[in-house]
Parts: sequence; C-alpha cells; structure tokens
Amino acid sequence: MCGIVGFAGHHQAAPILLDGLSKLEYRGYDSAGLAVRDGENPAEVVKAVGRLKNLAEKTDEGKALPGCFGIGHTRWATHGEPSRTNAHPHVSGNCTGSGSGKVESEVVGVHNGIIENYKELKEKLERHGYVFYSETDTEVVVKLVDYYYKKYIHTPIDAIAKTMVRVRGSYALELMFNDHPGEIWVARKDSPMIIGTADNETYVASDVPAILKYTRSVYYIDNLQCAKITPGEVHFYDLNGDEVTLEPTEIKWDAEAAEKGGYEHFMIKEIYDQPKAVGDTLTSVIHDGKIDLSEVGLSDDELKEISSVTMVACGSAWHVGMALQYVIEDLTRVPVRVELASEFRYRNPILDPKQLVIVISQSGETADTLEALRLAKKHGIKTLAVVNVVGSSIAREADNVFYTLAGPEIAVATTKAYSAQLAALYTFAVQLGFAKGTFAQSDYERYISELNTIPAKISKILEDKERLQWFASKFAHKHDVFFIGRGIDYAVSLEGSLKMKEISYIHSEAYAAGELKHGTISLIEDGTLVIGVLTQNELYEKTVSNMVECKSRGAYLCGLATYGKYEVEDHCNFVTYVPTIDTHFAASLAVVPLQLLGYYIAVARGLDVDKPRNLAKSVTVE
Ligand code: F6R
Repeated sequence: MCGIVGFAGHHQAAPILLDGLSKLEYRGYDSAGLAVRDGENPAEVVKAVGRLKNLAEKTDEGKALPGCFGIGHTRWATHGEPSRTNAHPHVSGNCTGSGSGKVESEVVGVHNGIIENYKELKEKLERHGYVFYSETDTEVVVKLVDYYYKKYIHTPIDAIAKTMVRVRGSYALELMFNDHPGEIWVARKDSPMIIGTADNETYVASDVPAILKYTRSVYYIDNLQCAKITPGEVHFYDLNGDEVTLEPTEIKWDAEAAEKGGYEHFMIKEIYDQPKAVGDTLTSVIHDGKIDLSEVGLSDDELKEISSVTMVACGSAWHVGMALQYVIEDLTRVPVRVELASEFRYRNPILDPKQLVIVISQSGETADTLEALRLAKKHGIKTLAVVNVVGSSIAREADNVFYTLAGPEIAVATTKAYSAQLAALYTFAVQLGFAKGTFAQSDYERYISELNTIPAKISKILEDKERLQWFASKFAHKHDVFFIGRGIDYAVSLEGSLKMKEISYIHSEAYAAGELKHGTISLIEDGTLVIGVLTQNELYEKTVSNMVECKSRGAYLCGLATYGKYEVEDHCNFVTYVPTIDTHFAASLAVVPLQLLGYYIAVARGLDVDKPRNLAKSVTVE
C-alpha cells in the first residue's frame, strides 16, 4: 500500500526516483509525486493523478526537476480520494491548487502507512493555526513534524522523535527540511523501508526491487527508529535521539529477477518462474534425500513436541494454509486450524502452549498477519513465518523463518510465491509426520521423491498452455464462474477463483462441491461456467456427480483432472489435465492451469493484468 523512494547522491535524483517508483507501482497506482532539491534551493514538488507514466511525462522523465536529493511516492488511497491535492509529497505550509511547485514550507514529506489518531492531531494543529489543504493523514504528520521542529530548537531528530511518540499507527516516512539541505530524514514503524548505499550515494525504498539495480547492500531500519540520510552515509537513531548501529545485509536476488525478461506481463513471467521458485525452495531444505529443517530452526525433537498447528494468513497465503490443513492432518494426525489473520487477531483465540502458529506471507508486511504473529508471541506461543521477502517485518519478528525462494514477485496477483509457500509447507508436513513416526521410512522417501518431481511437472503443464489460451478467449465474456472441488481440490478452487476475479473482474466463487446444493446451485443457469477440480482420487466421483448436477441445470462444465482420468470427458464440455502426483501435493500442479486461465481471460478482456484496479500488492493497512 503506497511505495516510497528516496535518493541522496551526486546523480540527478528525479530519474532515479521515477525508476524506483516504477518498480513499486504494484504497491499503489492512483497517483504519484516527487519532491527534489537542488543544492540550497527549496524543494520542488510535482504530482500527477493516475499511473506513474503521467508523472514521468509531466517531469520530462525527471529531466525537468534538477537536483541530487529527493523523495517520491506512489499512492494507494486510504484517506482522501485519488487526486492531485491528496497525492504525496505533502508540505507543512499552506498550499494552493494542485500542490505542485517550489515548496514554501519548512518540511516536505511522503508516507506509507496509516496514522490512526490523525483527527485528534489535526485538531491540535488547527488550534495552533495550521490550515489543512488535503484530506490525508500524511499532511497531518508532516505538519506535526513542523510544529515540533519549531518548538524544539530546530533539530530534525528531536522533531521526528517527538512526532513518533505522538502518532499512533504505521509509517514509513521520508522528510526533507528546508533548513537542512543535503539531508533526508526517515522514520519507520510497521511499514516497510530499506536503505541502501553504494558509491557514495544512498537510496531509500519500500521494497528491494526499487534499488536492486543500484545496490545490494541494504539496512533494515527497525521499528521506532529514524535515520539521517546523506550521500553514501546513514546514521540511525532511537526514540531518545541516541545513535544506534545497524549492520547492512547483502541482498541475494539478481537484478533481472525484478524485470519482465521479454514477457508481456510480470504475472505470466512469474507463472513461468514457478518451476525454479518451487525447486529452489525444496532444495533449500532437502539434502541427500532427507528434509533438514534445522536452518528453519525446527529440529525433529521440537517437531515431536508440537501438539497442534494454527496457520494464519490473508488472501492467497490463506489458501495455502487451506490446502496444507488437509496435508498436515492426513500425514501427521496433528490437528490444524487455518485462520484469516484479520479474524484471528480480534477473536481472543484459545492457544495451547505446545502448539505452533505458522504465519504465511509473501511480502512479510501484511498488517493483519503481522498483528496475528504478535498476538501469538504475546501468548508465548512458538511461531514460524513462511515469508518471501528477506528482512521484512514478519521475518524479523517471528521466532523461526522459512524463506520461500521465489525471488521478487511484482505482479499484484501472486503465483510463484503461492507455489513456493506450498512447497515449503509440504516439507514441513512431511518432516513433522516423520518426526512423529506417523508413516514408515519408505513412505518418507517416496514423499520426498514425489516432491522433487513438482518443478518438472509444472514445466510440463506450462508447455501445454495453448488449449487454455483458446478456452480463455472463448469464455472471456462470462459474468459468473464457479469453481468447485473437495478437500485439497476445494483449497485449489479458492485460489483459482481468486485469480479469476481479481485480475479479470469476472464474478467468481469457489465452493466445496458438496456444499453447492445448500443454496448456491440456484445461481446456476444456462451457460454458467463451472470448473471442477478433480485431482483427489477418493473424491473424484463425488465431485463429478456435483458437476453433473450443475450440467443438468444448464452449466457448461470444465474439468481439471489428472492424466488417465479420461472418462471425465464423458461429462465435461472441456477438460484440461495435469500430471499425476501423490495426491497430497496435487495443489501445486492443479493451480497452474487456473493461474493461466485467470491470466489469459484478463488479457483477452484487455485488462491491466499486473495492476488490477483497487488492489495493491502489500496490504499494510488492516
Ligand atoms: C492474491 C494475493 C493476495 C495476497 C494477500 C497476502 O493474488 O496476492 O491475496 O496473497 O494479500 O499477502 P502476503 O502474502 O504478502 O501476506
């Protein structure tokens, strides 16, 4: 939700800031803005509504904004509609019209996060004569910094520290003070921010892809810390204004991983990245035919002690939990609950000290998942985070981290991170069962060898994409789609349905196949598309029967079955197949045709696949 960038160096800042923002556009894309400072001159602000290209055009790709220091923002509106006035940067003084131009104020800033007590702070500032021009919480925080700056002997550190004590909520904040040319100040709580240095220059960003091209050496500024950024240097401070030392971390992702690499969209590139994402994640813990979770911090002795598992996540990551509940319970006989993080955090859950809470998150920044993790920790429960982004808040706060090795995921709709999360948790499930002795050594070996076949089988599905492309073009005009399945197939249906609706805007629902008759079947009419997922041998006939019930009411049936189940063609109008695999791991294969279907339907409808409307990739507000 919103992306921020900053640059302090010797090159022109605006083109670097625009380039960084282009890598963060997935975080929000309803407006964007820059503030750039040329030497001692006041900062100049330019804002534009809509996609980043509007800002790039307005600034002549940054050339119209001279200066080597600057901050930038791409917005996902929270407080106030998407407009030029509400777009960032915001200023501490008055502002007329669109808010672009030379800054006549002491403080100019950009912000990612939510200031929860902004109304109360706004009233306080109004009593002190501040006049507000926008509806944003960011303008409040910028003016509050200005207020404390003027009150406390004109030192940015005191003004920022005092502001951090007064505001409630989350923020990754970047500020420039007119009196302090040559410096950018940043502060952070619960919103992502990284700071990189290279060749006597310093970069700030919400996420790694924005600065990967320039540096791999990054600092992860901690919660409730602020920092002074100058070219090539960063000084970190705590809330008391005392300097603290942080060590930089080396980023391993390669720069090409954050580029489209010749594909039309990031989403299709990331679908094709899946064999590698899954393979890398598996091989990070499978050595010499055995699963070794010691690097994840889970020894077999610790696994043996686990009494139950609660998996907490949002969106697609929650769907991973839904699939894994079947796998873990069946392989290990350990009870599993799967919870939406936004529900879990507010329902006073009953937690047993011997249980393991697993939080699943690609970004590692999802606000609800982060709070769910904190809640579990507050209860003294051991936590494991399955996270893709190294150094993210969730990764830093969890007791143990299992990193998925999917590389940067840019498309808003997740694909490769989802698949890597499944792979990571399969290894957890198999090792948990092995440690608890719920299956024989020979089964253990078989499960591992089946896991190792997933990457090649995903590649095989991808080779056969033309039929799905054809099917997608035929059904791109549909208004309603239903996905049905039982067990793991139900979990896959949830993900297939989300992929469909989030990028193609076609209404779609996923149902446990046996549940359809309890109300939803009344929505089936002539030509309604029903996609049945049929990878679970024991449930196959039951789901086929449910599909046929829909057909009798006019539905057009698409079956997603495993090779060999060709009799399904007697019932379905269209069938797509995936290779056979131990059924516990079938979600990894079944999801791929559904990702392709969602993608090709969105493309056929001419939609912006990588940046669907109203969404942002990293949901840092609750
Ligand atoms: C859907 C999608 C979202 C995310 C959800 C959680 O395609 O990407 O549903 O899965 O917002 O995000 P993370 O995994 O970053 O916590």
